[in-house]
Amino acid sequence: EDPRMYGIKSKIRVVPDFPKPGIMFQDITTLLLDPKAFKDTVDLFVERYKDRNISVVAGIEARGFIFGPPIALAIGAKFVPLRKPGKLPGEVISEDYVLEYGKDCLQMHVGAVQPQERALVVDDLIATGGTLCAAMNLLECVGAEVVECACVIELPDLKGRERLKGKPLYVLVESH
Ligand code: PRP
Ligand code: MG
Repeated sequence: EDPRMYGIKSKIRVVPDFPKPGIMFQDITTLLLDPKAFKDTVDLFVERYKDRNISVVAGIEARGFIFGPPIALAIGAKFVPLRKPGKLPGEVISEDYVLEYGKDCLQMHVGAVQPQERALVVDDLIATGGTLCAAMNLLECVGAEVVECACVIELPDLKGRERLKGKPLYVLVESH
């Protein structure tokens, strides 16, 4: 394992009972306060994806917007935001999903991603996997190939990985 992983893990603050009782919230804002740890996070993804012919990085609102754009810029891919409903002004496709604490929907602009494009889906965390699954469905719906999903943190106890239809998932840190 890369020695940078431990530094990254040490900067993630775990907040019990937020936003609801029983949820151990993984707070990445403390990671962002440390320029070295933030850069290491982006660099680890860039090193993994730079030679994989990825043409689009799809970031999931909101916290996927923090890590997705610097990765996209560094690997020379476009960035496509997958947004919560009602935020995108153009024609959209939508995908509903169930969350660890609630229900939600993701939308993507029609025309942002072309058929056969190679996509990387980026988010901060995988819990139940519902969010990443919805994101993959949007990309596959327009004919793109999802190469991999990338998250900073995985909560492996929630078995979200099993919902990803066999798609590879790469994470930097596991939290139990
Ligand atoms: C959080 C997190 C992931 C998602 C993971 O987002 O950032 O996107 O939950 O959960 P899942 O694997 O069970 O689907 P959330 O929608 O809570 O809010 P955000 O807008 O702050 O990213
Ligand atoms: Mg999120």
